[in-house]
Amino acid sequence: MGMITVIGNLKGGSGKSTVAFNLAVWLAWHKRKVSVLDLDPQKTLTDLIELRQEEDYEPPIAMLPSDMPLDKLKDEEGDVLIDVGVANLPGMFTAISQADRVLIPVVPGQADVWSTQRFLGMIASHRPPKCEVLMFLNRTDALGGSKETKEASAAIAMLKSASVLPTRLSQRIWLCRSLSEGLAVFELSPNEKASHEFLGLAKALYPKIKAKQPWK
Ligand SMILES: Nc1ncnc2c1ncn2[C@@H]1O[C@H](COP(=O)(O)OP(=O)(O)O)[C@@H](O)[C@H]1O
Ligand SMILES: [Mg+2]
Repeated sequence: MGMITVIGNLKGGSGKSTVAFNLAVWLAWHKRKVSVLDLDPQKTLTDLIELRQEEDYEPPIAMLPSDMPLDKLKDEEGDVLIDVGVANLPGMFTAISQADRVLIPVVPGQADVWSTQRFLGMIASHRPPKCEVLMFLNRTDALGGSKETKEASAAIAMLKSASVLPTRLSQRIWLCRSLSEGLAVFELSPNEKASHEFLGLAKALYPKIKAKQPWK
């Protein structure tokens, strides 16, 4: 049985679409049936998947129509990844009401920590009781030793209604580069640290999938 994972938070630029896209490609490489749903009017995820289609990269990623009835999400076979943005709040809340989990990328910085706290408050009444809420730090400094990274790490660990994943993504140029090609980071640059970090995140989110290096 697949899982419905919503990737969200209040801030743009925190890596929601990047992570949704890379996870979708990673799942597809592992022969999982995966569909993505882009509920953010910015449509970054849609653009990425269309670019991938134009380039004919394998494996292709299936996209659900963004006007689909969200109460039918649970009928989807396989894993569903949903990219949400605050420009479509009703869509975001309805998707969360159907979710098995919500994944929140948090960029180090006081404003981001505050907005994450607000986001947790906003979704509290929409998420089903069994829906997990998971945060991870994204775009940290490469060594993870900056004051901002340490403070954000300590601050999100204190937030009660969500847990923190032990894996982080640093600020990595290869994540940007791969996106502009319509590729996942581990497809474009499997040996870069950016890929190792992403694979760590994927494994933490899907521990039952036996990770392989299918791109070799
Ligand atoms: N860990 C990272 N390292 C480098 N660039 C990143 C990272 N995460 C996201 N980005 C870049 O930041 C920009 C915004 O990311 P995006 O996924 O579109 O954010 P959101 O969907 O939350 O608005 C993109 O250009 C993306 O490539
Ligand atoms: Mg986005």
